[in-house]
Amino acid sequence: MTAPLDVDALVAEASAALASAGTTDEVRQVTTAALGKRSPLVAAHRSLGGLDPDERRALGRRLDDARRTLEAIADDRRRALEAAELEAALLAERLDLGEELPDRARSPLSRGALHLVTTTRDALEDTFVGMGFEVVEGPEVETDWYNFGALNIPPAHPARGMWDTFYLAVGEPETVLLRAHTSPVQVRLMEAAVAAGMSPIHAVMPGRCYRRDTPDARHLPVFHQVEGLVVDEGITFADLAGTIETFTTAYFGPEIHSRLRPAFFPFTEPSAEFEITCTLCRGTGCRTCSGTGWIELGGCGMVDPAVFDAVGIDGERWTGFAFGFGIDRCAQMRHQIADMRSLVENDVRFLRQF
Ligand code: PHE
Repeated sequence: MTAPLDVDALVAEASAALASAGTTDEVRQVTTAALGKRSPLVAAHRSLGGLDPDERRALGRRLDDARRTLEAIADDRRRALEAAELEAALLAERLDLGEELPDRARSPLSRGALHLVTTTRDALEDTFVGMGFEVVEGPEVETDWYNFGALNIPPAHPARGMWDTFYLAVGEPETVLLRAHTSPVQVRLMEAAVAAGMSPIHAVMPGRCYRRDTPDARHLPVFHQVEGLVVDEGITFADLAGTIETFTTAYFGPEIHSRLRPAFFPFTEPSAEFEITCTLCRGTGCRTCSGTGWIELGGCGMVDPAVFDAVGIDGERWTGFAFGFGIDRCAQMRHQIADMRSLVENDVRFLRQF
């Protein structure tokens, strides 16, 4: 006959062991020892058959209670330990980006920046958008018609000499060239407006242009212009002058103003050159402005009726003005850059200043 099992002591001992178990593995070991096949509890269960019915029932109930109690405690303990173990695993796998930062800051790779010509173009676009213009682009490879013909410059016309053009050896019978100004985009825009049933146009057209110019302090063979075109009912030369002045003060600042001087362009009539206060001497006269206090920025004028005819706009109903000037020239004047070639030499010591 085995010694009677002290069920209370067994439960107390096993629950203490479960409470101090530090891992789910330990919980499993304690549970097996207290409730498994070779545990005293199972042994006691087996010996129930030798007891009389009352004792058997009483002890049987106590053994079942003990098992349920210990199973519940073991379950709780296992769940708590599982949560803690998961948290520890996640913590160990976590990438601490904050700790990585000092290393990255020491990296030899530094951030790039937009080129001065790009930021100048962006700022010009912003200024014109603020004045109610939309921004439109056109192709850099053009036909003779868009670069010249539609702009009232027929083949062999002496005015072609104003634009030393790069011609491409493709495109027979049509002559194909690299656009020498952004004015062909005007033509495309007016054609599109006519095709869509004609509505007013208020647009600026920035982009790259090409001329067979020898690079010098004020010229590059690849340069940038921004074209402006307004076509509406009742547009006058006063609107043109007001737009140029509004743009000049908005972009260059309140002390810089504009003035128009008579000029000639085949696609505008009347035509003007527009000048702004010299940004170096602020109008008092210096070497850059040859003592005049003014610097030429671009050309402008009222759209010539011949251009309206070429694109099929009724010049009796619609009038308009156009202007065009150099973006690189703008950057040069706003930042007092002595030699425009600096813009394309890619010396980062120069470029980093802007
Ligand atoms: N396209 C002209 C040029 O490149 C500038 C201009 C544009 C003049 C629009 C008048 C109107 O010289």
